[in-house]
Amino acid sequence: MIKVSIIGSGNVAQHLIAAFAENDTIALVEVCARNPESVSGLIPKSKIVARPQDLGVADLYIIAVSDSAIAEVSRQLEFSDRLVVHTSGSVAMEAADPKNRRGVFYPLQTFTKGKPVLFREIPLCLEAENPDDFKLLEQVGKTISDHIYAISSAQRKALHVAAVFVSNFTNHMYHIGEQICDANGIPFDILKPLITETADKVMTLSPAKAQTGPAQRRDANTIAAHLEFLQDENLKKIYQTLTQSITDGQKL
Ligand SMILES: NC(=O)c1ccc[n+]([C@@H]2O[C@H](COP(=O)([O-])OP(=O)(O)OC[C@H]3O[C@@H](n4cnc5c(N)ncnc54)[C@H](OP(=O)(O)O)[C@@H]3O)[C@@H](O)[C@H]2O)c1
Repeated sequence: MIKVSIIGSGNVAQHLIAAFAENDTIALVEVCARNPESVSGLIPKSKIVARPQDLGVADLYIIAVSDSAIAEVSRQLEFSDRLVVHTSGSVAMEAADPKNRRGVFYPLQTFTKGKPVLFREIPLCLEAENPDDFKLLEQVGKTISDHIYAISSAQRKALHVAAVFVSNFTNHMYHIGEQICDANGIPFDILKPLITETADKVMTLSPAKAQTGPAQRRDANTIAAHLEFLQDENLKKIYQTLTQSITDGQKL
């Protein structure tokens, strides 16, 4: 069995704990949680420690804390020359304390506490300072996911920017759509089949080929009417910027 300990008790830590439970290859030895209550339903109390300094021996330590705390938590570990990885999309592998062998175990998905995910479908982006550690990360990763990728810190940085565009910004667009519906007495549910079909299309078509709408058609009359409808200056700016980007056929 490969001994794994998790540091953190937030969204990612909780989903990892659930994914590692009842695993024939992985023994989840300890979870380090500042607030033990948040994981008490997921793991026996005897396996929860409050401080990184209290962690025992494991083959792999997964730091799943806020980006800004990764470096500090890695410094608080009182051992050295063990494999310590973090789960961030945007923090460099080198941000962790070099007293341990460093790596990254980044699950590319949006996690919310209490919302179950199919971990096997989540891409795991792995990186390690040395090949043997990478192999171990791969072995651990394969027990919970069918999608393992070797991604360098530089690639992960780019991937995270792409992920913000396709997930966080898209969700913000849903929020704007919801507010426009609310303000006009229309149920947001009416837009859900369109949302599903838009996402479904890019599973088989490139997003460039899937683009439709007034900006793609260069339909100046409709664009002008939409801008007139939008009273909020910020929404007008967002609409204009996105319209311009589509019209230009945005190339990086
Ligand atoms: N959420 C996602 O969708 C997602 C997806 C992929 C990767 N990630 C990455 O995964 C990591 C964890 O994200 P998350 O969403 O799980 O965050 P989260 O839900 O906000 O949880 C953050 C965790 O970090 C702990 N923490 C914060 N500051 C700390 C400190 N100074 N010392 C010790 N513990 C500290 C918090 O403890 P308390 O509860 O006691 O405050 C909590 O357990 C981040 O690197 C994030 O970028 C997140």
